Amino acid sequence: MKGILAGVRAPSAHNRQPWKFKILSASEKNSIADVLENKTRDIPGHTGPHTAGIIRNVPHLIMVFIDNEVVENRDMDIISIGACIENMILAYTDMGLGTIWIGNTNLVSNEIKEILDVPYETVSCVGVGLSDQFPKARPRKDIRDVMV
Ligand SMILES: Cc1cc2nc3c(=O)[nH]c(=O)nc-3n(C[C@H](O)[C@H](O)[C@H](O)COP(=O)(O)O)c2cc1C
Repeated sequence: MKGILAGVRAPSAHNRQPWKFKILSASEKNSIADVLENKTRDIPGHTGPHTAGIIRNVPHLIMVFIDNEVVENRDMDIISIGACIENMILAYTDMGLGTIWIGNTNLVSNEIKEILDVPYETVSCVGVGLSDQFPKARPRKDIRDVMV
């Protein structure tokens, strides 16, 4: 909950706060992993099946939705939800937890609506748990390559 409380402190366009959250049960997590795997397993090189494995294994998964009832400018509202998710991730990291930002779930947004019985569209979800791996930081582009 502390991460979600940090998430809702994020700035949002016109303060619309277009986000909704649901903390998933184990069976909800597994159902979502199954539909994601089924939808992507035949697409060569798709990361969906790998992400489905992460969803099954991660101890906690928080689904983040957009509330289309309050949307006035989708780009702005999606950016606002990105700020919210980053706040959540920073808060969990500060608590010493591991996190993963999962966007692949928006490929199965309709299925998720049915599984979770919510009227909201999936934007992303955040996996949270105690880290059992400490991989090297992934590389970033050189600062000179991103300055224009
Ligand atoms: C919008 C967004 C969607 C993402 N979706 C996924 C995903 O579906 N599956 C996954 O394994 N990682 C996902 N990631 C994590 C990125 O792959 C990761 O942040 C990036 O490779 C940089 O690695 P780092 O965060 O460890 O530095 C996502 C990240 C963002 C910001």
